[in-house]
Amino acid sequence: MLARAPLLVVFLLLCINAAVEQVSADLRVGFYQSTCPQAETIVRQLVQKRFNTDKSVTAALLRMHFHDCFIKGCDASILIDSTAQKQSEKAAGPNQTVRDFDLIDQIKTALEAACPSRVSCADVIALATRDAVALSGGPTYPLPTGRLDGLTSNVNDVNLPGPTMPVSSAFAQFFRPKGFTLNEMVTLLGAHTVGVAHCAFFQGTGKPDPTMDPALAGTLRRTCSASNNPTAFLDQNTSFVVDTSFYRELTVKRGVMQIDQELATDPSTSAMVAGFARSESSFRQSFAAAMVKMGSLVGKGGEVRKSCRVFNPKSPVSGGARPPPVATAPRRPPVVQPAPGRPRPPVVRPRTPVPSTRRPVVSPHPPAVKPRPPVLRPRSPAVSRAPPPKSGGKKNVPKTNAKNVSKTKGIQKKKPGKGN
Ligand code: HEM
Repeated sequence: MLARAPLLVVFLLLCINAAVEQVSADLRVGFYQSTCPQAETIVRQLVQKRFNTDKSVTAALLRMHFHDCFIKGCDASILIDSTAQKQSEKAAGPNQTVRDFDLIDQIKTALEAACPSRVSCADVIALATRDAVALSGGPTYPLPTGRLDGLTSNVNDVNLPGPTMPVSSAFAQFFRPKGFTLNEMVTLLGAHTVGVAHCAFFQGTGKPDPTMDPALAGTLRRTCSASNNPTAFLDQNTSFVVDTSFYRELTVKRGVMQIDQELATDPSTSAMVAGFARSESSFRQSFAAAMVKMGSLVGKGGEVRKSCRVFNPKSPVSGGARPPPVATAPRRPPVVQPAPGRPRPPVVRPRTPVPSTRRPVVSPHPPAVKPRPPVLRPRSPAVSRAPPPKSGGKKNVPKTNAKNVSKTKGIQKKKPGKGN
């Protein structure tokens, strides 16, 4: 009997392995075709409706998606509201200025009315982001779906790179451990072709960047002298368009955040920046692929939430209730039972330890998160972020962008820290 034990262990590990592979493969284009055929249309229509009145929604969703995927995989853990007992990811510094949670609520409400407990909140973020990118002139791409919503959301898990972090550190500590190449990191940072940053993020030292284009430095100094927690566009030219103007700006020293500007000067990335600055088609292709890869970071999914802001009640039989774990394997994610209505079992991805070599980030704000070793390792890599600006102020659209401001309603004003 004892002699058979090792064989049994091997057999069990093989079974678990097979289950893991099967679940990974289940993230697929058209996942809701039979269970909620109208899902992608519902998402697209509501994103379009928001975009019609607020073009900054694309930036909001891109950042939300990134902050979701880079913590514990794309599992909508960023959407959970804090409670009196427990602070969720939303309460973390870098997430204080993540916005447009109300759009996710709207979409989820419509989806629940059409197909209750079928479409995960994690998929809502991913699909809405994909659609917003397309509306902003970016690439269109088929997006695999079938993500599940996470069962945990802890403020202390949030660990994202900061805007003053050297390019090499951001790559070594955040992107590479999740399986991304340097080129993919440069590509994903191209998301800064839209959106804004609070002045605190790029004027952290209180001194202007001596290498910055003097005209831009002057404009930013004026913008940032306002007292209401001002912001500036990350791409001065086409601030609401997903294009390669961001990279061209970097080549002429008009990057607003330090890490962005360093992409153009660091010898390991400067050629990539120059390449994207020259070729729109190469960026579009790379960006679509990198977004799919980021979106394929699978978290510790376990349920389809009824409301994106709260975990489902723990009843084992109610719709979308959290399924109990079925098996666990060393260094492999546990396999859990599928939520009712879902044709497959969710799987938890393994987390790979990351060396605690984090460098201090120069910022007026406290570091977003303490160094924490375990990090997701998806089939594709993921990203993280940095400390956020002080809360309390409202976002302003700086006056540095006459071209774009005239085309849009600008950035939605929202109180950082509220989460929605
Ligand atoms: C090293 C990696 C990154 C760093 C250090 C970083 C840092 C930042 C910072 C500090 C801001 C300003 C936030 C604020 O003031 O409210 C910001 C904004 C933004 N980030 Fe990143 N980011 C990184 C990667 C990414 C990635 C991978 C994406 C998406 C794929 C992304 C999308 C955005 C967008 C769209 C905005 C504008 C948000 C808005 O307008 O509300 N970032 N980022």
